[in-house]
Amino acid sequence: RCAPCRRLFPYTARSPSSGELPIAARLAAHYKLPHLDTGLLYRAVAASAINKGIDFQDERECALLATHVELSEFDERELRGAGVGAAASVVASLGAVRRALFELQRKFAHQEGGAVLDGRDIGTVIAPDADVKLWVDASVEERARRRFAELSGMGEAVTEHGVLEQLKERDARDAARKDAPMKPADDAIWMDTTRTNPDQTLEKAIEIVEERRGAPKPVAKKMARKAVENKPKT
Ligand code: C5P
Repeated sequence: RCAPCRRLFPYTARSPSSGELPIAARLAAHYKLPHLDTGLLYRAVAASAINKGIDFQDERECALLATHVELSEFDERELRGAGVGAAASVVASLGAVRRALFELQRKFAHQEGGAVLDGRDIGTVIAPDADVKLWVDASVEERARRRFAELSGMGEAVTEHGVLEQLKERDARDAARKDAPMKPADDAIWMDTTRTNPDQTLEKAIEIVEERRGAPKPVAKKMARKAVENKPKT
């Protein structure tokens, strides 16, 4: 394994305070693969900028922070807070920051033995050659409900309505940015988790991975079509 993988893995594998591991972490645990939650990298850059009083618009300085990002220097709870999340979405729109984090993520994705990564541009930019791509989604209201439960569990003074508004704002910014906008890869399998609990979601994800691993190419194409059919109507 590459050095960044060893450095990052223990931190990204920890459970968030809600008590529920995100689907990618559970999938990684199931297949005994290292997992990287790439959102934490952008969150760490944002937290460094906040701590050092660096302007989020200062692309050069933020990229410099990204070059030296070291997740072990942060408390994961601090990184997962709502304020850092909103700031992360702003620094993530800076092309130089994304470029600075690119190599580290690519190495993690292509390490020997495989890896599980989650993040908005993994299937399109970081690992377009990934064996399996899952686009895990839920209605914005349901995501707000889950996020509100997580944040209030961490003791943050938030309201569900406030979380919902912030999520909508972040989604719009993430989808509209020039560099690596949030969008599923054409061959990603769409999973709508609005009405499934975490165990059901994991079960479905494993089913998809198994099907994909054993599937000859034409079936993979059929699944890509299914992904489009499954896409929730907005
Ligand atoms: O997923 P999470 O909420 O931790 O991500 C925080 C922010 O980091 C997102 O709103 C997004 O702007 C950015 N991000 C990204 N690309 C990734 C992961 C996260 O742009 N691969």
